[in-house]
Amino acid sequence: MKLLVLPGDGVGPEVTAQALRVLHWFAEHRGLALEVTERGFGLVNWQRHGTLMPDETWDRIEAAEAILFGAIGSLDQQAVIPSEERRKGSLLRMRKALDLYANIRPIRLLDALLEASPLKPRVAKGADFVILRELTAGMYFGTPRGVETLPDGTRRGVNTHSYTEGEIARAIRFACRLARERRGHVTSVDKANVMEAGALWREVAGRVAREEFPDVTLEHMLADNCAIQIARDPRRFDVIVTDNLFGDLLSDAGGAILGSLGMLPSASVNDRGQALYEPVHGSAPDIAGKGVANPLGAILSAALLLRWTAKRPEDAAMLELAVDRALDGGTRTADIAAPGERVVSTSGMGDAVLHELSLL
Ligand code: NAI
Ligand code: MG
Repeated sequence: MKLLVLPGDGVGPEVTAQALRVLHWFAEHRGLALEVTERGFGLVNWQRHGTLMPDETWDRIEAAEAILFGAIGSLDQQAVIPSEERRKGSLLRMRKALDLYANIRPIRLLDALLEASPLKPRVAKGADFVILRELTAGMYFGTPRGVETLPDGTRRGVNTHSYTEGEIARAIRFACRLARERRGHVTSVDKANVMEAGALWREVAGRVAREEFPDVTLEHMLADNCAIQIARDPRRFDVIVTDNLFGDLLSDAGGAILGSLGMLPSASVNDRGQALYEPVHGSAPDIAGKGVANPLGAILSAALLLRWTAKRPEDAAMLELAVDRALDGGTRTADIAAPGERVVSTSGMGDAVLHELSLL
């Protein structure tokens, strides 16, 4: 497998380094064919080379089978970068150009981390669901968009929430295929009551599920209700599928019940066999360079890579188990440590996962 690594900014390089160590372990001990190329990307690259992403890197991105990405951005530095350059080197461009329409975010509450969850253990224990967020259409891409000045001089910001039947159908299909490998249940989330694209979403979701996936159970849910249910009864969910905007909000809500952003992995996949893997968190400038970031979001993203791109579900499960064991054994980075618990560094967590792998 040809893997392009883009560590990016802030804690990005710190956490991707640990994910890479783990992938190299699978290459060494489990026969994973791994060919790694690493490239600069983001503000670090801007400071050194005057571009967020050189054309050569872009060519590699377009040709890559799998990309392991860290994070990009720091709020204070963003202002000095011309907007044209920001567009050229943006994650949005990458998602759109590669047509990575299916953003997968597994949310699994481990017993060892029940303490870190803001939810009561009796509500949260065992929660295990996946949010599939449509990533290449909807509010973040629809046209017309822009800020216009009205005749009376006031300015108006415009975005368009737009979905075609095809864009909806492929997201629903992806979710249903995912559900087949899990508990067979899909919750399709929209605002069919007040949005045109939402009503179409619901109609197409119903049709696709009924005609193509009779073995999968589909329920519809309004987005506002879904936000409440994630906090009140997260165990009711198996696969949640929703549009770009609601998916952004609901996956953050889903992430919040785990207690730390640092734990959350993601994969963004297209239908051409390409995928981008990244921890959900950003560059975390407040803790960057200190070696304290939690690498598990990146490491669990590597597990998704083993499952989706390398087609090695057993290795993926093995890695997830090693992470569980490391946590069960009490290994904690600062973000998930309870008062008094012993805290390890970013690489210390990597060590613990590798140690558990070696015991499996
Ligand atoms: P953030 O995710 O970087 O940080 C939010 C909070 O979570 C911070 O307190 C941070 O210390 C903590 N945190 C994040 N990752 C952690 C980890 N691995 N271990 C322990 N704690 C962790 O989000 P924020 O602060 O809103 O944004 C910072 C920068 O990151 C901005 O420039 C933003 O644009 C960018 N960003 C980039 C993303 C990406 O590359 N996909 C996603 C989100 C934000
Ligand atoms: Mg977000």
